[in-house]
Amino acid sequence: MEDKKKVLLGVSGGISAYKSVYIASGLKKKGYDVHVIMTEGAEKFVTPLTFETMSGNKVVTDVFDPANETPTEHITLGQSADLVLIAPASANTIAKLAHGIADNMLTTTMLACTCPILISPAMNTHMFENPATQENLEILRRRGYELIEPATGMLACGVEGKGKMPEPDVLIGYVEQWISKEKDMEGLNVLVTAGPTEEAVDPVRFITNHSSGKMGYAIARMAARRGANVTLVSGRTALPREPFVETVDILSAEDMFRAVTERAPGMDIIIKAAAVADFTPANPAGEKIKKADLVPNETEGFGGMSISLAPTRDILAYLGEHRHEGQFLCGFAMETQNLLKNAAVKLVKKNVDMICANSLRTRGAGFAGDTNVVTILTRDGIQQLPLMSKLDTADAILDEIMKRR
Ligand code: CTP
Repeated sequence: MEDKKKVLLGVSGGISAYKSVYIASGLKKKGYDVHVIMTEGAEKFVTPLTFETMSGNKVVTDVFDPANETPTEHITLGQSADLVLIAPASANTIAKLAHGIADNMLTTTMLACTCPILISPAMNTHMFENPATQENLEILRRRGYELIEPATGMLACGVEGKGKMPEPDVLIGYVEQWISKEKDMEGLNVLVTAGPTEEAVDPVRFITNHSSGKMGYAIARMAARRGANVTLVSGRTALPREPFVETVDILSAEDMFRAVTERAPGMDIIIKAAAVADFTPANPAGEKIKKADLVPNETEGFGGMSISLAPTRDILAYLGEHRHEGQFLCGFAMETQNLLKNAAVKLVKKNVDMICANSLRTRGAGFAGDTNVVTILTRDGIQQLPLMSKLDTADAILDEIMKRR
């Protein structure tokens, strides 16, 4: 990171304050200058010394503390921060922020802040759902605060429900999303597809492939970090939802065709990283296929059972045919042999601007891993990207797209 960005971590009174220690530590490890402000309630759960040790900076708790670096520390901190994350944000702190009450260091500093403020409410489900809290959150939302939805699960009070603070890594992801990237894709509508498709054989079975969705999700995340409005049309994956991305869940190639083509006219950039099935069972059974109902093959018995397949519609080729002026289309090609030749054919045949080719045979590339080795093909040349994380690969692909569109 060229210049150290300053993150203010506001910690208010809630049991998940202990998790915020990991946020402070994680952000520091990523190279941010982390300053922690604690409320009196927070100090009941974790001591300032813990945060001081993890952040490497003095923790401020009191507006009038003579030990503060400046007599107007709330203004200094508020004005110098690049971003604020309040995690956990208690119902009380949320209420104070909504009404401009400045009775502690955190709420006073927030009034002096001009940078983006992210809030992670964490509390008992009933407290969270109480209209008082919901209306206060709505006020903050209208003022431009970014509200991070609490997770659902077993709460410290023993109740199962919504109100958990998301895991530290998720919140760190939000911080990075807001401050780590130049917003060079601001205002652009980007559609990304990811993951496998599932083609039903009967209500119980389906045909699918090994796609993990990681490459497409990485592209969606980086495009959102760069300021784009991102829609992710995703097959079933084990990946968590990407923050700041509108995700449309689909199962089959036909679902994906509909979800993509419906939205395509409004898109500036479409990146098709999904592994779409080329064939689907021609006549999926309405009920579970039972062995007893099958007519055994004379020579092979049930071992000879076959499923007849019909081709799916090629979504990328359809987009290539129906593209509008200025729309940028990028496809992927996953090959096991003749990578460049096959990818070059797809570039022309599908009438797209770019194909990102990757081979299952290359070490560090492929479905489930966190790295990839991509060759970018365009009409005017070939660019080989090195072995990189899928996130860095995603960023490099977006760099190329932004250069060319
Ligand atoms: N693709 C698509 N719709 C399909 C099949 C593929 O949109 N029904 C897209 C993929 O998302 C990818 C690109 O086309 O961006 C290339 O996919 P790939 O499976 O590598 O190639 P195919 O065109 O299916 O050809 P083949 O399977 O013969 O390699």
